[in-house]
Amino acid sequence: MWDNICKNAFQSYDITTFRHNGPNNRLTVYNPKSHGVLFLKTILWYCIRSMNDHERSLLKKINNRNFGQPLSIKYDENIEVDLDYILCIKELCFLEECLSTVHSVVEIGGGYGRTAHGILSLFSGIKAYYIIDLQPVLILAQQFLKHVLPKDLFKKIFFISVQSFNSLNIQTDLCININSMQEMQECVVKEYLLFINKQCKYFYTNNTVGKFLPSMCGFEETVSSKKAIQSGILHEYFNIFSDEERQTAQKKFLEAFKPSVSWTCLKHAECIPWPHYYQALYRKQSQTDC
Ligand SMILES: C[S@@+](CC[C@H](N)C(=O)[O-])C[C@H]1O[C@@H](n2cnc3c(N)ncnc32)[C@H](O)[C@@H]1O
Repeated sequence: MWDNICKNAFQSYDITTFRHNGPNNRLTVYNPKSHGVLFLKTILWYCIRSMNDHERSLLKKINNRNFGQPLSIKYDENIEVDLDYILCIKELCFLEECLSTVHSVVEIGGGYGRTAHGILSLFSGIKAYYIIDLQPVLILAQQFLKHVLPKDLFKKIFFISVQSFNSLNIQTDLCININSMQEMQECVVKEYLLFINKQCKYFYTNNTVGKFLPSMCGFEETVSSKKAIQSGILHEYFNIFSDEERQTAQKKFLEAFKPSVSWTCLKHAECIPWPHYYQALYRKQSQTDC
């Protein structure tokens, strides 16, 4: 094997850059571009290993998690898991006390529906679950959730396209927004915050705390990355791996996502595994429950 490696990897290199995707990929550090799956699966393994018994027991209660063939790992005979449902369990544990009390949820930008799947599977007190999203994504969510949920739980979901969303028609206990307000235009986020302020009692946000340069994480700059940098309500650049800069950005996040001065932040925390995300739960001040 090493004869081959020596012939190929060590024939030509620049000693000033050999540790940057050069022959050092055969000595110490795997090339993240070719071994990305190994890096991701290792993150999954660390995440599932560090979950406590309660988190694992909730995870096992969500059926059909592997539908759609996600990139997953088999941790033991009972647990096969992908990143989406690790995130889901972390988010739902953060919200557990609140979710055990409320009866209705509106989710803005629900994606394919992993959060709805988790919440409806674990919290029987939820009687209505509204998902507001763009039409093509909403169709995907409808298909996914119909497949993974039993009929009685699927019936609780109302799918609302962004075009037909009328903020006055929905009044719910809890509004959830995960990994999406940072990708919407600032004016759209502000409209949603106005809606939450008027029509909801609790608000959960789990989003990035600012912007980072694509080069920091080895991304190519694309049209999409340029748009991502302009969107959302937090535009400042920061080093996502600097604790000091992250903490400063987290403080700004907590202020920016507060729907109005009548809201209080009940709890906030970092999000595993991503360092550039933060999560917070707010409550409208007049509420006493949850
Ligand atoms: C990165 S995905 C995250 C999906 C999901 N929250 C999750 O974490 O799995 C962003 C979501 O926001 C939705 N979205 C984008 N613009 C939106 C808008 N104006 N109103 C509602 N949803 C929107 C997208 O369609 C997508 O479902």
